[in-house]
Amino acid sequence: MNTDNLVKELGINHIGIIMDGNGRWAQKRGLPRKAGHPKGAEAFKKCLDSCVKLGVPCVTFYAFSTENWSRPKDEVDSLMNLFLSFMDEMMKLSSKNIRLRFIGSRDGVPEKICAKMDEAESRTVGNTGTWCCVAFNYGGKEEILHATKKIALEYKNGSIGIDDIDETAFNSCLYTEGLPDVDLIIRPSGEQRLSNFLIWQAAYAEFVFMDVLWPDFSEKDLIAALVEYGKRNRRFGGV
Ligand code: FPP
Repeated sequence: MNTDNLVKELGINHIGIIMDGNGRWAQKRGLPRKAGHPKGAEAFKKCLDSCVKLGVPCVTFYAFSTENWSRPKDEVDSLMNLFLSFMDEMMKLSSKNIRLRFIGSRDGVPEKICAKMDEAESRTVGNTGTWCCVAFNYGGKEEILHATKKIALEYKNGSIGIDDIDETAFNSCLYTEGLPDVDLIIRPSGEQRLSNFLIWQAAYAEFVFMDVLWPDFSEKDLIAALVEYGKRNRRFGGV
């Protein structure tokens, strides 16, 4: 199958990916759950390369949710250490013309990770290629509340009027400011829910749920999800 123009032909601007199934991948092999996350990080790297190769304009990966803090401390600590060590890989993305953005709240995120996220973002600021967003300490409800507070402050200081609060104004207060709405959400691992991921931006997204566990997710699976998307009839509320 020739995939050179697939993404363009499908008109896809933004894909959201829920990297689910790391824990089960490890448990299936008799390993502790946390052993699945480094494998998940490898799958992330490969999938990002595939997105760049296929010409995906923007891809957002769900790496750590606002709800994931409730996991056992040992697993949270190992995830934080993984992110910190993985940041050096993130720095290298600049050479691939990737634009990096971390979306989510910084509350409770270790200072060392915040500093690395800022550095990695600023290194890619002049790039023009694929947007890679990493949703870290991210929750869609938190994002909407954060945006609402921002807009309320603008109203309070007189920089926005009540009639100016529309979708464009609201979008500009989200962590995804300036990025296109999500066309396709891919969730591997057999679970079929959104889990507080991009709930505003995915209002009209198509969902593709797959049985593969995230560490095993390959370019073949990404292309299969794109092909499935191509079969959908998007009507955006019209007929
Ligand atoms: C969900 O699988 C996965 C996570 C909560 C962590 C995702 C993190 C990574 C893929 C690794 C790092 C990514 C980057 C960007 C460095 P799960 O643990 O809930 O799996 P389960 O559903 O089988 O329990």
